[in-house]
Amino acid sequence: MNTPLRLSPEPVDPAIEAAAAHAEDISNAFRDLQIVLPPDTVVRRDEPLARRTTLRVGGPADLFIEPSSDNALASTLEIAHLRGIPVFLLGRGSNLLVRDGGIRGIVLSLSHPHFSRIELQGERITAGAGARLKSIAHEARRAGLGGVEFFEGIPGCLGGALRMNAGAMGAWTFDTVEELRCMSPSGQILTLPAQEVTVEYRACPLLRTHIALGAVLRGRPDDADVIRAKMDQFSNKRWTSQPNQPSAGCTFKNPQPTLPAGRLLDELGLKGTRVGDAMVSDVHANFFVNMGQARAADILELIEQVRTRARELRGIELETEVEIVGEDA
Ligand code: EPU
Repeated sequence: MNTPLRLSPEPVDPAIEAAAAHAEDISNAFRDLQIVLPPDTVVRRDEPLARRTTLRVGGPADLFIEPSSDNALASTLEIAHLRGIPVFLLGRGSNLLVRDGGIRGIVLSLSHPHFSRIELQGERITAGAGARLKSIAHEARRAGLGGVEFFEGIPGCLGGALRMNAGAMGAWTFDTVEELRCMSPSGQILTLPAQEVTVEYRACPLLRTHIALGAVLRGRPDDADVIRAKMDQFSNKRWTSQPNQPSAGCTFKNPQPTLPAGRLLDELGLKGTRVGDAMVSDVHANFFVNMGQARAADILELIEQVRTRARELRGIELETEVEIVGEDA
């Protein structure tokens, strides 16, 4: 007599199971967001991110949201929290390396005009997180306000500059800030005088958890020609000392105040070092440029090669300045 055949259930790969659960969470969140958010808020799935970064590499975002108001931003955070979905805030992508597998969860961008306003009143410049730094510098110049000329050459937006306390030409973003407006992870809006905000070289720790909505900057009345001359000088320095191929700006933090990473890598003879289409710029060695078809993996490999050389030849541990996010392909 034949014994009945018993089929034991196929063992399920936990990675596949987790991916399926994640895909379901994303679909549910997408549906919730479409219902709750106003029609002028952009809500997209599988949004390619390479074209939203200056380095032009990286995979897609599961969900991409451009909120059109503070409320839409708060609702997005609430849904993300309820569904346990991570949120990543994208600025102008000028200091960002997105890995080739893209970013899981929600990518938020404050590029809607609601977040990009610039208003001048006396010496105060009130600007939204999405406002371009270049635009802030030019608006201030038109109103006869100096002090923010160094923004001219930074290819980012105010939110990113606040989060990183970005600097150029000897000045830091927070040198100019009078008041910071930000949103807590639970959607609460806080307005803080600058003295109450801790800042460091290339960091504002509060903005690791909170989203900068904007700031009041304090300009300095100055002669329009003097302001224009400074801006021209900064812009010339940038055009002559920094490459114009796609890049994420400076790759490493300066290891010591008296030792710029660019000079170190130059002295180590690393200009022109290449992995695929990722290359150490021959104009400024701290810029890693995309010569055409570089993948994130090429840039990451180049970063590792350069760090190894600095460690082996000079005993220096280089720390990346560029923010590296997402998953490998
Ligand atoms: N240098 C070299 N070779 C190079 C590059 C630089 O010898 O290939 C030398 C320069 O000649 C100069 C010194 O290194 O004597 C410093 O170079 P630079 O003036 O370009 O300044 P940096 O320290 O490399 C910093 C910021 C930049 C900012 C510039 C201009 C950091 C990590 N970088 O660069 O910010 O644009 O000053 O003010 O603090 C960024 O944050 O992404 C960024 C590019």
